Amino acid sequence: MSFRLQPAAPARPNRCQLFGPASNTKLFAKMAASAADVINIDLEDSVAPSDKDMARANAIEAINTIDWGNKTISVRINGLDTPYWYRDVVDLMEQTGDRLDQIMIPKVGCAADIYAVDALVTAIEAAKGRTKRIDFEVIIESAAGIAHVEEIAAASPRMAAMSLGAADFAASMGMQTTGIGGTQENYYMLHEGQKHWSDPWHWAQAAIVAACRTHGVLPVDGPFGDFSDDEGYIAQAKRSATLGMVGKWAIHPKQIALANEVFTPSEEAVTEAREILAAMEQAKANGEGATVYKGRLVDIASIKQAEVIVAQAELIANS
Ligand code: COA
Ligand code: MG
Repeated sequence: MSFRLQPAAPARPNRCQLFGPASNTKLFAKMAASAADVINIDLEDSVAPSDKDMARANAIEAINTIDWGNKTISVRINGLDTPYWYRDVVDLMEQTGDRLDQIMIPKVGCAADIYAVDALVTAIEAAKGRTKRIDFEVIIESAAGIAHVEEIAAASPRMAAMSLGAADFAASMGMQTTGIGGTQENYYMLHEGQKHWSDPWHWAQAAIVAACRTHGVLPVDGPFGDFSDDEGYIAQAKRSATLGMVGKWAIHPKQIALANEVFTPSEEAVTEAREILAAMEQAKANGEGATVYKGRLVDIASIKQAEVIVAQAELIANS
C-alpha cells in the first residue's frame, strides 16, 4: 500500500446535476426550486451558435439574481476548440458574484486544457479580488479524455468533479450507437442461444472512478437521453453507484427523484453497514480482526466498506 493517503473528495452531496440551456430563461426558477444538488446552466451544446452571447448574459443574470438556496451552481462553458470559451470564462468571472461555485469544462482531452482555463481564472480572480475559489468540473467525453483521465483528475487543485459524457464519448470512440447511455442492443454475449447484455460504458466509468478517487475528485455519471425510460435510467444509475460514482445528471426534471433515490444509501444499506461496524467493534474487543456477520466473513476491510456507506448517508442527511 502506498504511504500516501487517498485524498477525500469534496464533502457535499452531488446525487443529481440538473442541466438546462442558458438560452431558456423560463427554466431557471424551476431549476432553483428543484431537488437537484447541483445546477448546471449550459452555454455549450444545448445552446445554438447564434444564441451564445444571449445565453451567457442570461446565465450571469440568473446566477446574480435567483435564490439558488444551498445548491452547487455550475456553468458549462463552451469547449476549448470553439471561439466562445474565453469570453464565457471572462464574463462569468468578471460579472458574477460569489454565488458561482464551479465552471464545467466540456470535452477535456489533456491536463493542459485545465491548465489553460486555470491560468485565465486565476488571473481574473486576482484582478477582481474574488476571494472564493472557483472550482472546476470536467466532462470526459472523448478518446483523448479517457486516455488521459488520470492526468486530468490531477490537473488542478480546483478539480472537484468529473462526469462521463456518453454521447460525445461514443462519437469520439467511433461507437456504433446513437443512444445517450444505457443498454446497447448490439452489445451482448451469447450463451446457449440466449442474449445477455453487458455494459459498454463500464470501462470508461471504472477508469473515471479510479482517477477521481486517486485525486480527491467526485466521479459522476452523465446524461441518460431517453427521459421516457425511468427503468433504464435507474438501472444505469445503480450500476454507476455500485462502481463508486456519487451521482448522475438529469436532462429532464423527472430524472431528479430517480437519481436522488439511487444515490442516497437506502435505510437497509445504512442499517447493515452500522451492524457490520458494531460486529467489528465487538470483534476488536475480543482481540479478533475478523468475525461472522449473517453467515459471511467481515474483517478490517469491511469496516472501510461500511464507513463509505455511513459517511455518504451522513453527508446527505447533514446537507
Ligand atoms: N429544468 C427545469 N425544468 C424543466 C427542464 C429542466 N431542464 N426541462 C423541462 N422542464 C420543465 C418544463 O418547463 C415543464 O414545466 P411546466 O410543467 O411548468 O410547463 C416541465 O418541466 C415538463 O417539461 P416537458 O414538457 O416534459 O419537456 P420540454 O419539452 O419542455 O423540454 C427538453 C424537454 C429535453 C428540451 C428539456 O427538458 C431540456 O432543455 N433539458 C435540458 C437539456 C440540456 O441542458 N442539455 C445539455 C446537457 S446534456
Ligand atoms: Mg457533450
